Amino acid sequence: MEKGHFWPQDTRDLLHRLRMRSKYALFLLFVVIVFVFIEKENKIISRVSDKLKQIPQSLLDANSTDPALILSENASLLSLSELDSSFSQLQQRLRNITLQLGGESEELPLGPRRHILLMATTRTGSSFVGEFFNQQGNIFYLFEPLWHIERTVTFEPGGANAAGSALVYRDVLKQLFLCDLYILEHFITPFPEDHLTQFMFRRGSSRSLCEEPVCTPVVKKVFEKYHCKNRRCGPLNLTLATDACRRKEHMALKAVRIRQLEFLRPLVEDPRLDMRIIQLVRDPRAVQASRMVAFSGKYESWKKWVAEGEASLREDEVQRLRGNCESIRLSAELGLSQPSWLRGRYMLVRYEDVARLPLQKAREMYRFAGITLTPQVEDWIRKNTQASRDGSGIYSTQKNSSEQFDKWRLSIPFKLAQVVQRACGPAMQLFGYKLAPDPATLMNRSISLLEDRGIFWVT
Ligand SMILES: *[C@@H]1O[C@H](CO)[C@@H](O)[C@H](O)[C@H]1NC(C)=O
Ligand SMILES: *[C@@H]1O[C@H](CO)[C@@H](O)[C@H](O)[C@H]1NC(C)=O
Ligand SMILES: *[C@@H]1O[C@H](CO)[C@@H](O)[C@H](O)[C@H]1NC(C)=O
Ligand SMILES: *[C@@H]1O[C@H](CO)[C@@H](O)[C@H](O)[C@H]1NC(C)=O
Ligand SMILES: *[C@@H]1O[C@H](CO)[C@@H](O)[C@H](O)[C@H]1NC(C)=O
Ligand SMILES: *[C@@H]1O[C@H](CO)[C@@H](O)[C@H](O)[C@H]1NC(C)=O
Repeated sequence: MEKGHFWPQDTRDLLHRLRMRSKYALFLLFVVIVFVFIEKENKIISRVSDKLKQIPQSLLDANSTDPALILSENASLLSLSELDSSFSQLQQRLRNITLQLGGESEELPLGPRRHILLMATTRTGSSFVGEFFNQQGNIFYLFEPLWHIERTVTFEPGGANAAGSALVYRDVLKQLFLCDLYILEHFITPFPEDHLTQFMFRRGSSRSLCEEPVCTPVVKKVFEKYHCKNRRCGPLNLTLATDACRRKEHMALKAVRIRQLEFLRPLVEDPRLDMRIIQLVRDPRAVQASRMVAFSGKYESWKKWVAEGEASLREDEVQRLRGNCESIRLSAELGLSQPSWLRGRYMLVRYEDVARLPLQKAREMYRFAGITLTPQVEDWIRKNTQASRDGSGIYSTQKNSSEQFDKWRLSIPFKLAQVVQRACGPAMQLFGYKLAPDPATLMNRSISLLEDRGIFWVT
């Protein structure tokens, strides 16, 4: 189906920006009024202005078009991010007041809202790691929404090429992070009527789409292709989903279709967003083995090569593998090189570390995101990694998931490991995956193939 009407995206974007801009003007005014209002019953203002005095003059002088700005008493412009916890408290009150007032202002991005992108590739454990955010009650989490875009844009005859679809991915991501879920309608087939759809991919993997009030009463005789896991709901009302997204404190989504970190720069620099990008990687030998099982049809020639001894592997298959590994490596190198636009917004995580130390890694990811890790999330992790208490009451690091993460070593033929090692050598070196020189090393799980890489954390 041709989705041409989506393309005046620039215009749409511009209109949206203008709309946001005038909203921000109102918001600023509103903030100033509420500021004064609150001062009467609280000394926060004086604490904030103490803080203002400590901020270097250069910052105050900077010309910024950042709408996330606030007018201080002397009309200096100041970035929100420079303010300390007293300001978050103030924002919390602002949020409370706007909630009380209701109406228009509920659209405004109040509070230190974070936008987390879990950037991964298939078979890297991203569904599992995504749950760490899905299980936090105050995060609106979407599971692989770009699936809809891939289906409509890339694979349809006459569809855009990979670079073109990457641009569409980025624009869609941006709108989703801004809670504009309607953007997906252009890519959902059949086109949702009255913002209602029963074809939202893996709806059941987003708690936020399956809880009140987004879960509406079941409609009889309507076939829900992607239904909620633990309960029945009516077709997804995207208006309700959008409202829910705005009400939640943070937004997170996982995507296996973003190949280049660099492409995300406009999102990171968008003043309406406070992006945190977590790039998840996994040993490419394990990924390859897992893909050959999971996407059997796409890996026919690999399977044939493994099964039929002598037949040689098609060079274009090896090239594709190399290309995949390289784009992951290049993204990670960019992230780890800490360009100023990404500073504090990029974290690299190895699946193997998550599997071995799930709670610790969850804490690190939440700390990086600046979000509170709730007991709810910790419980989920414990239940799903079978952590057991040791005598001291500390959760043991010997977990079931830690026994699973390198099981692939027993099932992968050595020659497959060798091909992957050759194609993905530079990536493996960067991420600390040791090469196995012979079958015995590969199969002997008491020899670790992981180098310690610390927490891979950019601050
Ligand atoms: C600030 O803005 C003014 C007018 O818009 C411009 O003339 C000046 O060069 C800008 N200064 C900086 C440091 O960007
Ligand atoms: C703001 O105004 C106060 C007094 O009105 C002054 O002491 C202070 O230096 C001013 N701050 C800036 C950043 O101009
Ligand atoms: C905001 O409202 C919530 C619930 O109504 C309350 O728990 C919280 O203390 C309030 N925050 C402030 C700063 O007033
Ligand atoms: C979807 O939810 C919105 C907001 O509650 C409501 O106004 C609208 O009627 C709902 N749409 C349908 C088709 O039920
Ligand atoms: C690990 O988990 C599997 C499946 O849940 C279970 O069958 C197995 O007994 C567990 N092993 C240990 C050591 O807990
Ligand atoms: C596996 O490696 C360990 C440590 O190098 C070694 O002691 C052990 O004998 C090896 N096991 C087998 C079956 O080769």
